[in-house]
Amino acid sequence: MSGQVKYWRQYLAKFAGRPDIRMLEIGSFEGRSTIWFLENIVTHPTSRLVCVDPFFDPLQEVRFDHNVSVSGAASRVDKRRGRSEEVVPELERGSYDLIYVDGCHDAPNVMLDAMLGWELLKQRGIMIFDDYKWEAHLPAGHRPRLAIDLFLGSHSGRYDIVHQDYQVAISKKPA
Ligand SMILES: C[S@@+](CC[C@H](N)C(=O)[O-])C[C@H]1O[C@@H](n2cnc3c(N)ncnc32)[C@H](O)[C@@H]1O
Repeated sequence: MSGQVKYWRQYLAKFAGRPDIRMLEIGSFEGRSTIWFLENIVTHPTSRLVCVDPFFDPLQEVRFDHNVSVSGAASRVDKRRGRSEEVVPELERGSYDLIYVDGCHDAPNVMLDAMLGWELLKQRGIMIFDDYKWEAHLPAGHRPRLAIDLFLGSHSGRYDIVHQDYQVAISKKPA
């Protein structure tokens, strides 16, 4: 994550500090990226960050809650404990400015998160995929790259690439 911050500061600048920003984070773990977004992008009191994670280990959720609490930004966080495939379809379509896909890294899950996330994204909203180049030695079904490539190929012409390296970030074109 830390290697991405310099890129996030650039291509997410248009959202930073704005009122009424809606962000979705799929995969929050103990809140490291959550806190960065809360302190740098989702900073306005009217903006919200929805955090979706099953928190398989209860201690993980305790640490997440603690980290969010000490950040002083708990009022901007909407925590949803559960798997993205169950929680994300319940969220409002076309209403998210920013989506960070960093949940289960198996290709089928990443594809599902991409497809579900795309429906939630506003026009000109940005969706970021983490770990595009993660663990290249693993079978293709157990890492994100195949799913990200399939998603990008199947949605060709409907987005602009705003960043492509270890992470991939796309901006949804107006229909
Ligand atoms: C790499 S960690 C996220 C790291 C976090 N974004 C950060 O940078 O600090 C992946 C997270 O995805 C969660 N996860 C696993 N399966 C998931 C699913 N089906 N839906 C949502 N989150 C999932 C795990 O519990 C874990 O906390």
